[in-house]
Amino acid sequence: MLGEIDKILVSEDELRKINEKLGKEITRDFKDKNLFVLGILKGCVFFMTDLVRHIKLPLCIDFMSVSSYGSSTKSSGNVKIEKDVDIDLSGYDVLIVEDILDSGRTLKYVSEILKTRGAKSISIVTLLDKPERRVADITPDYVGCDVPDEFVVGYGLDYDQKYRNLPYIGQLSRRVYEAEE
Ligand code: IMP
Ligand code: MG
Repeated sequence: MLGEIDKILVSEDELRKINEKLGKEITRDFKDKNLFVLGILKGCVFFMTDLVRHIKLPLCIDFMSVSSYGSSTKSSGNVKIEKDVDIDLSGYDVLIVEDILDSGRTLKYVSEILKTRGAKSISIVTLLDKPERRVADITPDYVGCDVPDEFVVGYGLDYDQKYRNLPYIGQLSRRVYEAEE
């Protein structure tokens, strides 16, 4: 598996520091709020479970699943809800947890939908950001770190459903996906 990773972009140690830092900021900012942490499956899972343990506040969690990618490395722009939230969001300050913000189309779509659900406020935390790739008008409130415009995997992020269990964020070798494009 390692042979398909060109380099490690965010190490396990760096991920730990990012989670600690974001947890502190979110704890400070949501002190007097009614925090609802909403993860976007499946990429959010590793990040979200580590992050919430650094948020020292009472909170609820739930998940949504949306699709836009398939096995390709480019966003299709066609976002579809596969699994919706189970809990009524009225009165909550919702914090959306995303693995990576790329074109921004997915989160634009999700946040537009959540606005119609009675949430008191909507904020976004993304572990990774590729700011130069942004197409949709969306700005995250919290970012773990920026990554270059390369396809990255690990710590929840996949290529064709694989590599999610890598404990770090790695740059996927182009030969893995260019052969299939
Ligand atoms: P967007 O709609 O273009 O912002 O795409 C966001 C979604 O695409 C993320 O939630 C990821 O699931 C996926 N994605 C974008 N870039 C990458 C990447 O480099 N590796 C793995 N998944 C990615
Ligand atoms: Mg995702």
